[in-house]
Amino acid sequence: MESVVALLKDEMEAVEGQFRKNLASDVQLIGQVGNYVLSSGGKRFRPMLLLLSARLCNYQGDKHIELAAVVEFIHTATLLHDDVVDSASLRRGNRSANSVWGNQASVLVGDFLFAKSFSMMVGAESLKILKILSDTTTQLAEGEILQLINTCDLDVDEERYLQVVRDKTAILIAAACQVGAVLSGVASEQEAALREFGLEIGTAFQLMDDALDYVAEQKDFGKELGHDLFEGKMTLPLIHAYSAANAEERAEISRIIEAEELISPDLEYVCKLIEEKGGIEYTRSKAVERIEKAKKLLSIFPDSESRQALFTLADYVVSRNK
Ligand code: IPE
Ligand code: IPE
Ligand code: MG
Ligand code: MG
Repeated sequence: MESVVALLKDEMEAVEGQFRKNLASDVQLIGQVGNYVLSSGGKRFRPMLLLLSARLCNYQGDKHIELAAVVEFIHTATLLHDDVVDSASLRRGNRSANSVWGNQASVLVGDFLFAKSFSMMVGAESLKILKILSDTTTQLAEGEILQLINTCDLDVDEERYLQVVRDKTAILIAAACQVGAVLSGVASEQEAALREFGLEIGTAFQLMDDALDYVAEQKDFGKELGHDLFEGKMTLPLIHAYSAANAEERAEISRIIEAEELISPDLEYVCKLIEEKGGIEYTRSKAVERIEKAKKLLSIFPDSESRQALFTLADYVVSRNK
């Protein structure tokens, strides 16, 4: 991972410059909240993917910098909204914006970032890119709404879960990869391969996030552990454990997921059950399968430093602890 950060150092500095430029506003609160979230130590996974895809396709211009900032703005906007919806109090090891400034400020600054990202993407002067990114934000919203509908629903199976994962997370990661290709004007086969690559690693990314929600170290993960259970989210570790559980265990899961509060003995019970039924291993194995598939998709590109860096980011998805 450090090698990729080093490879992209200059371009990422330019992307950070775009963040500052596009956060400028006479309204002070926008700068305060915006700077707080944008400088709190995000991994910058999506902009790095966009820059690497452009490099893989031999892009020679400079529009990739602003577009890399766009995908991070969209991501940041969704996090601001997501933390309100999920009542999260921790983000990247710090208090979440909603717990510092309240829900209203988080929602409104999230709206500002969404709106701004649209002004910025127009600068690329590509109708195709505009369509990809605007479809992406629509689908992202659908994913979050679908997840809301699935809350506390023990009938959610792997297929319904994967639909949410695809919409809320994988689509944006896929768009980041595809936009790098579109900018460079490569053939449709290469463009499709990069999009598919993004969809696979994006799905694996959320699978791992959902596993880490149960088993990470909070100090690394920077978010509250067990929060998905607390919020009644049916994620793969739990879906797998539930499908393998007996009647008594199922009744207990059902009671816990419906409860107003999540008390620690209940979280421990579910964690132990997930462990016993192999829910984490199962989730991780599904993520690893997707990473393997993703890497194969890039075999149509000749070997290069940027292809290696994309492999490194793909592997990082299943080895990360934050
Ligand atoms: C968090 O994304 C939201 C998910 C899709 C799981 P990241 O893990 O990329 O968040 P940051 O930007 O690095 O904090
Ligand atoms: C990803 O889901 C959220 C978005 C795509 C906005 P999560 O709710 O699992 O993300 P975290 O865990 O809060 O980062
Ligand atoms: Mg969340
Ligand atoms: Mg999560």
